[in-house]
Amino acid sequence: MRTLRDLGDLEGKRVLVRVDFNVPLEHGRVADDTRIRAALPTIEELRERGARLILASHLGRPKDREPELSLRPAADRLAELTAAEVTLAPAVVGEDVRGFVERLGDGDVLVLENLRYEPGETDNDPALAAALAELADAYVDDAFGAAHRAHASTEGVARLVAQRAAGRLLEREVAALDGLLEDPERPLVAVLGGAKVSDKLGVIERFQQLADTILIGGAMCFPFLAAEGHSVGSSLCEPEDVELSRGLLERRAEQHGTLELPRDLVIAERLEQDAEPEVIDGVDVPDGRMGLDIGPRTAERYAELVTGAGTVFWNGPMGAFELEPFAAGTRAVAQAVAAASGTTVVGGGDSAAALVRFGLADRVTHLSTGGGAALELIEGKRLPGVEALA
Ligand code: 3PG
Repeated sequence: MRTLRDLGDLEGKRVLVRVDFNVPLEHGRVADDTRIRAALPTIEELRERGARLILASHLGRPKDREPELSLRPAADRLAELTAAEVTLAPAVVGEDVRGFVERLGDGDVLVLENLRYEPGETDNDPALAAALAELADAYVDDAFGAAHRAHASTEGVARLVAQRAAGRLLEREVAALDGLLEDPERPLVAVLGGAKVSDKLGVIERFQQLADTILIGGAMCFPFLAAEGHSVGSSLCEPEDVELSRGLLERRAEQHGTLELPRDLVIAERLEQDAEPEVIDGVDVPDGRMGLDIGPRTAERYAELVTGAGTVFWNGPMGAFELEPFAAGTRAVAQAVAAASGTTVVGGGDSAAALVRFGLADRVTHLSTGGGAALELIEGKRLPGVEALA
C-alpha cells in the first residue's frame, strides 16, 4: 500500500483527500468528532507539505440532497480544530466547485458537499469518479470507515489518479488490524457483542480459528443460549440466528478457540430506563422477560480473561448500555480493556461509543474509526478502498 511518503513534492499541488466525516449530528452540530480528529494527522501533514486540500466525505445515507445531511457541521468543526482556512463547497463536483478549487491557496482546505448527494457515488459511476479525479493532482484515501465500500470516491477515483496513497489514519488502522490477525501476543481474547449473530458470523468464524478465547455477550448470546436448549423469554433472538449459532457450537470442537457464553444475566420486562432490572443466576429467561445485560458473575469472568490477555479485540456492547440499569456488563468489559496490559484493539461503532461514554477512549492501544470496515478486514475480506491504492 502506498503511503504519504510515496507522494513526493506536494508544494502547491491539489490533493483530493477522501475522509470519513460520517459523524453523529445533534441539533445541527457534530455530536462526536472522533472521526474528524482522527483525520487531522493527514490533513496537517499535507498542509505542512504545501498542498491545497480538497476533502470529500459522505454523511448518512441521503436519498436526495437533504439539507440536514450537509457537511456544513463537519466543516465547521474542522475549522475549530485546525488553523487552516476551511471553506465548504456548494456541491460535490461541477463548475462552481472547480472555481473554489482554483481559488485555494497552499495549506487551505475545501470541503466538498456530501458525496452521496450525487447518486453516482454509491454506484461507483465512472463519470463521477472522473469528475472527482479532475479536481486534483493527487489522491489520498484516509477514510478507513468507508474502505469496505467500492464507491466513486474510494475505489473509482483511486484507479484514475496515478499519484495516490493511503493517509496516516488508513495506514494505522490497517497496520493495527493486520497485526492482530497476523502476529498477536497470546492469549488472544476476542470479546464480541451486539445484536445479531448473522452480522458477526464471519468474524466469529475467523476468531474461532485465530483466537484462544471468544467471549460472547449482548443480545447475540441469546441465539447461542437457545441453541443450547435454554429458554430466552422475550429476548432478541431470531430463528435464523439460532440456526447459525447451532452450527458454530457444533463446529466448536474442531476449532482452536474456546467460545464462552454468559453464566448469569440481567433481565427485565422491557427495554426502558425505568424497567426494574433483576439479576438471575443462570441463563434461563422466564416468559415475559428479556435479557438486557450479562450478569455480574459473567462480567467478572470476562474482565479477568481480558486482563490476562496478550491481545484483546473487542467489538459490540455486552448489553443495552445506553440505559444505566443495563450498562454494568459493558462498563466492566470497557474498564478491563482500558486497564489491560496487553495490546487492545476496539472495533468502531457501539463499542467505540461505549468507550467514549465511559471516558476510556484514550486508554486503548487502537480504537478503530471503522465499524463495518474493521469487521470485514477481520473476516478476511478485501477492502476495495485499500486494494485500489496498490
Ligand atoms: C460507517 O459509518 O460505518 C461508514 O462511514 C460507512 O457508512 P455506510 O455504512 O453508510 O457506507
